[in-house]
Amino acid sequence: MSTLKIVLLSVSVLAIAGSGFVYYWWETGELDLYVPMFRSHCAQCHGDDLRGTGAGPALIESELKHGDTVTDLIDSIANRHGATQRDNFKDMLSEVDIKGLAIFIGERRLGQRFTDFRFDTKINISERSLKTQEHNFRIEAFATGLDSMAFSIEPLPNGSFLLTEKERGLSIISADGVQSKLITGTPQTGSSLNLMGIKYGAGWLLDVAIHPDYENNGWIYLHYTDLCPTECIDADPLKTSMNRLDRGRIRDGKWVDVETIWQTDPVWYTSRVDTRAGGRTAFDDAGHIFISVGMRDAYGPQDMTNPSGKIHRINLDGSVPADNPFAVASQNASDIPYTQQTIWTYGHRSPQGLEWNYNQGNAWNAEMGPGGGDEINELIAGRNYGWPYFSLGLEYSGGHVERHKPKNVEFDVESIEQTLVDITPSPAISSFAFYNGDQFPK
Ligand code: HEC
Repeated sequence: MSTLKIVLLSVSVLAIAGSGFVYYWWETGELDLYVPMFRSHCAQCHGDDLRGTGAGPALIESELKHGDTVTDLIDSIANRHGATQRDNFKDMLSEVDIKGLAIFIGERRLGQRFTDFRFDTKINISERSLKTQEHNFRIEAFATGLDSMAFSIEPLPNGSFLLTEKERGLSIISADGVQSKLITGTPQTGSSLNLMGIKYGAGWLLDVAIHPDYENNGWIYLHYTDLCPTECIDADPLKTSMNRLDRGRIRDGKWVDVETIWQTDPVWYTSRVDTRAGGRTAFDDAGHIFISVGMRDAYGPQDMTNPSGKIHRINLDGSVPADNPFAVASQNASDIPYTQQTIWTYGHRSPQGLEWNYNQGNAWNAEMGPGGGDEINELIAGRNYGWPYFSLGLEYSGGHVERHKPKNVEFDVESIEQTLVDITPSPAISSFAFYNGDQFPK
């Protein structure tokens, strides 16, 4: 994919807030498995802190002789220790542990080990020019003083921007970078909790996007996690939520004319925190909206009755497009739930990026994997993207991702749509954008 024409937005704490640490903490309760593994097999030569000793080179803060992609690192660990004649790791460690150690070293080199992510870490904007394969660029601060959980920006025709901050609300940033007061009347936020630098919460404002014909109709789409309406399983409505898409207008600083565009049955509202709710929105050029709904439930992504772990596609008014892969003819439509007929693709984990690719005429998404395995996918109607049966990343607790694969389920790797770009070590990819301007022609 050397011709990949996308600009990855620099990874910030915004992305990090949605990272897998939550998953790691909630579901394993263990500390980083690879710390003790490195300590017992590697540290005597490479140092506990990976900075090297007389018996082995530093593995961080210096160039590596044999390369530092995960593939290079796997090769070094497995095959470059013959000279020391001490340990033959190829025989001593399993393939998956060698990969896990390679990811561990790769993440430590980038300062992006999942245990380091904190939602309120200060964003450092480098003064220096940043290098990419095709172009160098610099980042400038445009608006400052925002909440650390800012999530979405949407340009308006007059040069200003809509902004969502997950827990604070919706506001407008003027063309010269000044933030307005909060728009009143937007959905209610639930309770939240800071635990070891991770924010757990429910009722978050996620994406904001304008209708393709916004200049004539003023419609603004707001993707958020709706607090439990009624009859939810969890007793505490302030902790129980589910993705929902509304549209409305802003008049005199107020959110008005609100219509619900996409919403699930109350049974799908969960207390499994909003960090991996996904929550993006993208319009195509033919009257459809795509929305990403993350894994709100461990088994959700492979269960077609469950709306979580899916990308959904709807018409601009929320109705089901007749050519959706799981749509049924109107006379039988009531047999299959609405949120099943809106599914476009499934098997998604934490899909925080979603864009329409105008050059190719299809939707793409970005999603966070566990230890490694962040992905950029081309979204092909009706296809399975694998989570949690398959991922190029590893479980935080070590081992292949297959924990939620029911024991009696056989699945064929060939049936899973493989990612276009595997981003391992994974920086916890949040959003991305296709760039069609002329500042970066390549
Ligand atoms: C007995 C000492 C010793 C132990 C134990 C050891 N290494 Fe090494 N390691 C070395 C030496 C010496 C080199 C340099 C070999 C070379 O340059 O060909 C090296 C090279 C490497 C490299 C390549 C560095 C580069 O510059 O490209 C990696 C990666 C690496 N080791 C990882 C590990 C991991 C992971 C473990 C534990 C599973 C481990 N090593 C255990 C001594 C050791």
